[in-house]
Order: sequence, then structure tokens, then C-alpha cells
Amino acid sequence: MKRRDVLKAGAVTGALAVVGVSVSSCANETAVTMSADSITTADIPVGGGVVVAEPPVVLTQPTAGEINAFTSICPHQGCKVSEVSNNEIFCPCHGSKFSALDGSVIQGPATEGLAAAAVAVDGTKVSFG
Ligand code: FES
Repeated sequence: MKRRDVLKAGAVTGALAVVGVSVSSCANETAVTMSADSITTADIPVGGGVVVAEPPVVLTQPTAGEINAFTSICPHQGCKVSEVSNNEIFCPCHGSKFSALDGSVIQGPATEGLAAAAVAVDGTKVSFG
């Protein structure tokens, strides 16, 4: 590898590191993948959400105390949604966006919304399926 190539690689790595820091600082607005075992209302950011690995569910909290659950499988071509911010659920495959309030389509190419999933809140413990 030539010196110029090493410098280019370093620049790219540095840029990725900056992106990584930026994403981390927005953790309160971005969904994270969690186990279904012990999710509480405090784990679900207001205006954001949590993508659960299994079962495939995304939990949202549009306003404090309002917990919603939807399938995390995008109805367009079956990708898993990846994040929730500003009360919008995002699918990374083709850019569809869904409402964190009711799962409806905000932006295609998906033409159907995310199906609702059952959710129950007991104190701060969230159960769903
Ligand atoms: S699979 Fe989600 S937008 Fe295409």
C-alpha cells in the first residue's frame, strides 16, 4: 500500500469514527436492538423506539406513557426496520418510513403500513407479542 493510499484509508476511517460518535450521541432518538426479556418503559425513548430481535417487533413511545408495538418486518420486501426517530420508523432497505403512532406509511415504496402487535404495560414492564 502506498503512502497516499494509507492516508486515504485513514481519512475514511476518521470519517467513520465521526459518524459513529454522531450516532452514539443520538442514542435517545434511535432504536436499538434489545432482548425481549426485560424491556421497561424507560428503555423506549419518547419520540423514538426499540427494535426487538425476537419476536420481530418494534416498540415506540410517541408521547410519554403511550407505548405502541408493530411488526418490525417491512411490508415492502420483508426487511427489518432499523430505527425510530422523530416518531418515524425507518426501513433501511429502500427508505420506507412509517408512523410510530399507528404504523401507517409516511413514505414509500411500501404501500401498506406496519401491522400492529399486542402490547401490555404493567407498571414499567412492557410485554408484547
Ligand atoms: S423492504 Fe422496506 S422499504 Fe423495501
